[in-house]
This record gives sequence, C-alpha cells and structure tokens, in this order.
Amino acid sequence: MIPQKTVQEILEAAKIEEVVQDFVTLRRRGVNMIGLCPFHTEKTPSFTVSPTKNIFKCFGCGKAGNSAKFIMEHEHFNYPEALRYLARKYNIEIEEVELTPEMRAVQQEEESLFIVNDYAQKYFQQQLFDTDEGKSVGLDYFKERGFREETIRKFGLGYTTNQPDAFTRQATEAGFNADYLKKLGLTSQHGRDFFRNRVMFTIHNLSGKPVAFAGRIMAKDVKAPKYINSPETDIYSKSKILYGAYFAKDSIRKLDECIMVEGYTDLLSLHQAGIKNVVASSGTSLTEGQISLVKRFTPNIKILYDGDPAGVKAALRGLDMVLERDMNVKVVLLPEGEDPDSYLQKVGATAFKEYIDGQAKDFILFKTSLLLSEVKNDPVKRAGLVRDIVGSIAKVPDPFKRSFYIKECARVMELDEQILVTETNKAVKQHLYKRQQERERNSGTQVHIVEEKGTGGPGPDVELLPPEAAPTKVSGDEFREKDIIRLLIAFGGEIYDEKENITVAEYILSNIEELLNDFENPLYLRVAKQCQQCLADEQPLSPQLFIGHEDTAISKLAVDVLYSPWDYSPGWEERDLYLKTQKMPELNFSKDSESSLMRFKLNKLKLLCEKNQDQIKELEAGGDISEMMSLLKVQAKLLRVKNELAQKLGTVVFK
Ligand code: UTP
Ligand code: MN
Repeated sequence: MIPQKTVQEILEAAKIEEVVQDFVTLRRRGVNMIGLCPFHTEKTPSFTVSPTKNIFKCFGCGKAGNSAKFIMEHEHFNYPEALRYLARKYNIEIEEVELTPEMRAVQQEEESLFIVNDYAQKYFQQQLFDTDEGKSVGLDYFKERGFREETIRKFGLGYTTNQPDAFTRQATEAGFNADYLKKLGLTSQHGRDFFRNRVMFTIHNLSGKPVAFAGRIMAKDVKAPKYINSPETDIYSKSKILYGAYFAKDSIRKLDECIMVEGYTDLLSLHQAGIKNVVASSGTSLTEGQISLVKRFTPNIKILYDGDPAGVKAALRGLDMVLERDMNVKVVLLPEGEDPDSYLQKVGATAFKEYIDGQAKDFILFKTSLLLSEVKNDPVKRAGLVRDIVGSIAKVPDPFKRSFYIKECARVMELDEQILVTETNKAVKQHLYKRQQERERNSGTQVHIVEEKGTGGPGPDVELLPPEAAPTKVSGDEFREKDIIRLLIAFGGEIYDEKENITVAEYILSNIEELLNDFENPLYLRVAKQCQQCLADEQPLSPQLFIGHEDTAISKLAVDVLYSPWDYSPGWEERDLYLKTQKMPELNFSKDSESSLMRFKLNKLKLLCEKNQDQIKELEAGGDISEMMSLLKVQAKLLRVKNELAQKLGTVVFK
C-alpha cells in the first residue's frame, strides 16, 4: 500500500511532458506541446500536453488527466500500478507501509523469479543466434517456417541443445539459486535441463515480463509431445495468461477488436503480417480469467478456428461463458486442413484479412446453422437443438441483444418466434436462479425469486432480491465495508483532492487494494471491483451508473445507500460531532473517505492482532519460544500501526 504522502511526492515529481514523451513524440506549440494521440488513430495531432498545468488532453478522443492517468491509460495499469511505474521512473522509494513481512517476502520472491526467467530467455536467445548449432538447427527451423529475424527477436524466441544440463550449469555458475530454477521448471529435481533440443517460445505477462516458456520439438513424427510448457508458478497462472497479449494490447484497443487463435506460431505469423490485435489461447479452452483479460481492452472478440468441424463443435461449448460476460463473439472457420499460420502463409495478408472479415459470423447464429445442418429433420434432435440455442441466448445479459437473437434464430430454424421467447424466458430464469444460488453459497444469505406478472417479451421476467433484502448477519466489518461502498457509489467520481486531481474512488481504491480480497460481503466486493474497472476504463463514476446497473443487487444497494446514507454506520456519533461544526455531509466526502478508510483498516488490524494473539498463546502453551518471540515482534508492529491509526482517528487507543 502506498502512503499518501508518497503519492503526493510521486505526482509532484512526475512531469507530464517527460512521462508522455516516453511514448509520444511532442512538439512545442506556444506554452503547450502537441503530438499524435496514442489513444486513437489520427493523422493530424490533437493531443496536447500542458507542462504548466501538468496535464494532458486529447481534443480528438477526449482523454485527459495527469501523469498517473496517462500511464493508467497507456499501460492499462490500475492507479497503484501507475504510481509504482512513476515512482520507478523518478527514483522515489515507496515504503509499502502495511505490507506484512510475509507479503514482502512473497514480493521479493516474485521479483527473483522474473530475474531468473529473464536470464533464461537471454540464454535461449543467445543459443539461437550465437552458436553454430543454434543457427544451423534452430534459426534455420524458424526461417524455414517464414519467421523474420525481427519477429524472432521481438517475441524472445530461442533454442536449446540436447546436452543434459547445459543451461542449469551455466545458470548455477552465474550464481542463480537452484531452488528458483527448479521452481520455475527450468531444471528438473535431478539437476537436468527441462527444455532440451527444442525451439523456445517465451510467454510474457501483460507488462512484458517473461513468466514461462514453451519448447517445440523440431523433428516430425516423434513420440514426445510437440510442445512442453513451464509449470504453473507464483508468476504464471495458465488460466490468466494469453500468449502475445503484451504485444497485442495497444492494437486491440485501437481497433476495438481482439482476434483469438490457438497456437503460438499462428500468432507469430499474423503479427508478422501486420495483424497485431491477436492473442493465442495456447490450445486450451478459454477460461474466465482469459476472457476478463480481453475484456479490459475490448468487448469484441473474433475467434479463428482450424477448419475441422468436430474440433469446432467441441470448442463452441466453452463459448457461452464469453456471452455471459456480455462480449460480442464472432467466429471464423478456416478452410479444411488449414490453421491461421498455414493459411496466411498460403494466401498472403490481404487475402487473409478479406477472408476472416468476410467469413466472420456471429457466434450464436453460427452455432445455430452449424448444429441445424446436423439435425436435419429429426424432431428429437431438433428439440435438443432448440434447448441448446436457447441456453446460449439466455446467457446474453443485454435484453435487446437477446431479442435480436431470438428473431434471427427463429428465422434460421423456421420456428415460431413466440416459442423461442417463452423458452428463452424460462432459461433466463433458471440461469439467474443458478447464479443467485452460487452467490448465496458464497455469501451465506438467502434467495428470493419473485415472479412478476406477465410482462412478456424477451426480457427476464424475474426480479431477484439482493442479499440485503434477506436478513443477513452483519459483523462489525461489514458495516465498515458498506460505509466504504457508500462513499464509492455516492461520491466515487468526485474530486478528492484538487491538487492531485484524483477522485474519491481512486483515493479509496488505491488505499484498500490489498484488502479487497478480505471483503466479507461479496456484493460490496463486486461494487468495489466495478469501480476499479471503471477507473481502468477511464469511465466516469456516478451514482447513476450504479442505480442503473444491470446487476439488480447492485442497483438495489445503490438506491439503498443513497437514500439512507447514515443509518447503519457505527461510529457515526463521532462523525456527527465534527460534521456539526463543519460542512454538510454531502460536501464532506473527502474527510469522510479518510476516516472511513481508517476505520476499515483499523478493524482489519484489530482482527489480525486478535488472531496473532491467539497464536502466541498457543505457541506459549506448546513451549515453542522462538516462534513465539517472532510473533511477538509482529504483534508489536501491528499494535504500533494500529495505534497510529487510532490516534489519527482520535478514538481510544487500544492496548
Ligand atoms: P497445434 O498442434 O495446432 O500447434 O497446437 P501449432 O500452434 O499449429 O504449432 P505448429 O504450427 O505445428 O508449430 C496449438 C497450440 O496448442 C498448444 C500450443 O500452445 C500450440 O501452439 N499445444 C499443442 C501444447 O501446449 N502442447 C502440445 O503438445 C500441442
Ligand atoms: Mn500450426
């Protein structure tokens, strides 16, 4: 967590023109500087930077803000990430005040893992370019496949020989810790190289750091697997990574579309041909994490499938999940026997682009016609198909889109539209019910489904009462969470501090980022996450956003907190006191945010202290003195931080 005074220091040090010029070429014009906007495509510059005001603004697309905003927007960072970036640039040390020793250790370990992977990547690359074997075998293989040297270098491709421990030996001699090498899967338990006699692909995270590797065997027709991959580690979670996303993100955002292919080589070929808005799923079925990643950049996704109908049918099953996330999914089927790489190399970039644009079909309609061609006139299979399609349509959150699909599918299937409407409504209801049950399971609250009287139409004709409507158990912590959520909903978009030009939401979220996962109430967590998303998307926050939210639980909560802002907060007495002497509550959100945050943290610290105290007692009883001593130290630190906070709040100091 970044202390407030450091945030200030960072924002003061960061000169907007310097920050921007790392990415955009600027020219002087009067007191301002101008350049081509990095956030939209333009030929004449409308992007201006004001060094005196220390802000940027694009008169073309409207994006504007301070240095942190620019970095958030440009690098797709959240607020704290942007601040850390700027801190590095300006050599400002961030003392992460509330990181526990454990958290700090984890962070240090992660950094070490990146350093080791970085070394490995350079090693593989050096083997490829600077050794005779690498050049004649590895480089030759890549060139044969049509990859140019710039592509090979850009994506960190490499080569490894068949020697059993060439890499491990060199890395150990260079001083790298054997534990890290094993943890990263580069070295086996017996000290041998995991990747041998393969060409290497580096897998990067969104910031371009190497998190894992894949090695492809070069020989054809061998029993060994074609690709082997690094294991999951603290820095590599397969389900959250898309190959190539780092190199694709800018283009995805600019073109407002993400093309998805399966293989590493498919991605490289497309990228090299100038089609850069591509990511690769690496042969696995899509995960929620991967979808969220794409959704940070665009809601439009175009999936390219190899022309093998059986494979496509299997893949289609996973796609309902993408619909649920309210994304627009198109699919393209390549000619039989081709994958994107082979087809592109065959027909060239222009014809390839024409093909995928021309063949792209809306997912639901594509699925309908594909399945329809199979069932022919078999009435039982047809009924199954209707259920299947209706199941997909029901997952689309937007009722207007749903009604569009119903019309189109009814037409394609030659069905009475009304039948599809009825069936879809049933499915929507079931779907919402299931989701609510999941929520219930997660939050331990009850569910009420209320039937609404005949509305007809494709919209959901159910209303779900949010968890709040049911009697819930509310611990002290939930009150504090709710208080924070209230501030986010009611004042999230207001300016918290004029000088820093940050909003209430930015202030609050940057302060509780690390605590978010400790939120007790899943609904409040959803609101906090929604705010985070809005900040990342540069979408302004307003109460209206929550009141009109598609998630009925959120909209109900918004109305609730906006109407009766004060009646649930313990500790309100103290606030009432200073409010009487100060501003109206509505105008006091900055102060309010501060004290709310402090109270929230204080409570979390109190819980931590209690837990720690219990552990100390146990250790004492068990006679484990040295462990106990170390926990006592932790306890002392916790108490100190807690007391500091309590003092600031002006409340009683705990012992
Ligand atoms: P493909 O078999 O289609 O390979 O697997 P490819 O990407 O076209 O590779 P080339 O063109 O033959 O060299 C698609 C993706 O599935 C994953 C890889 O990510 C691969 O790119 N895969 C495949 C594995 O992880 N392991 C395997 O053994 C095979
Ligand atoms: Mn291929």
